[in-house]
Amino acid sequence: MQEGLREVIDEMWRIVATDNPLVSDVNAHLLLAKGKMVRPTLLLLSSNVVGSPEPRATTLAAVAELIHLATLVHDDAVDHSVMRRGRPTINALFSHQVSVIMGDFLYSRALSDLVRLGDMEPLAVFTHASNALTLGEMRQLAALDALAFSEDDYDTLIESKTASLFAAACEVGSLCGAQRYRNALRRFGQRLGMAFQVADDLLDYTEAQETIGKPTGLDLREHKVTLPLIFALRKMPAAARRRVDALFANPDPDDGLIAEVVDIVRDEGGLEYARRRGEEFAQQAEEALAELPESAYRSSLAESIGYVMDRRS
Ligand code: IPE
Ligand code: IPE
Ligand code: MG
Ligand code: MG
Repeated sequence: MQEGLREVIDEMWRIVATDNPLVSDVNAHLLLAKGKMVRPTLLLLSSNVVGSPEPRATTLAAVAELIHLATLVHDDAVDHSVMRRGRPTINALFSHQVSVIMGDFLYSRALSDLVRLGDMEPLAVFTHASNALTLGEMRQLAALDALAFSEDDYDTLIESKTASLFAAACEVGSLCGAQRYRNALRRFGQRLGMAFQVADDLLDYTEAQETIGKPTGLDLREHKVTLPLIFALRKMPAAARRRVDALFANPDPDDGLIAEVVDIVRDEGGLEYARRRGEEFAQQAEEALAELPESAYRSSLAESIGYVMDRRS
């Protein structure tokens, strides 16, 4: 995939090119800090599963990564996060205003390039995913009583904010040469996306900022309730529950309180439970691949599951 991904990056630079100096500065900051490129990789692999993918797959993969990048720029402003990919976020380095405008810029450039291709189907899939994603971010922000968030609520949330774009990337890949497997690939991306967000939420509890290139413990600091805490809340003793309540009542909890709640969640088996649940989503992703013909690309899609589950960043 390496050569294919290099072309995707060239496409991204082409799509965002502008003579506005501030937008150019931010573009350079964003594109020079490369992420894992998971969504374009999935798109390219999906487009290859029966051989001879169409050349537009490269542009579509660039669009997928740009939509992802737009959501990250907005998400970091919403989450008040100061680090991403080991570098300062746009809101930290420039301002919240610049983040809002740049997220819009990236979205609109990505969508304009889809229009340029003149093909309605990928446009429909990507705009649908962008809308689901936006609603997911709003659902998370507007959860009135965060501690009443159920596991079903969580599943619905991660399906919209993360799995929607994974599903779209795989589905759009299928449109470039593997139409017959459209449903299977969409389902694969959807399940993999669920596993991916569960893994991401675990990393927020378990890893150091230096390892994952973005702050950890941030979900608790921002009063975001994710799967480890949802599970732990079910069975936690009253004294522990009072500590969690204290954290959620405090608009600016200190590191000590956050570390205390992380320990409580671990002791109550929340991390272990989330790991198991992630494995279930991963298993479902693997099952979705069963109907694809055997090929090196199918194997790579299958291997991407292990990558998602074992990743440390
Ligand atoms: C981060 O996505 C946002 C989530 C959906 C958890 P990635 O982990 O794919 O971010 P990059 O692109 O590799 O930085
Ligand atoms: C995923 O949520 C963000 C989007 C899907 C936009 P997070 O808030 O958990 O992502 P990170 O941890 O900031 O990358
Ligand atoms: Mg975030
Ligand atoms: Mg996170």
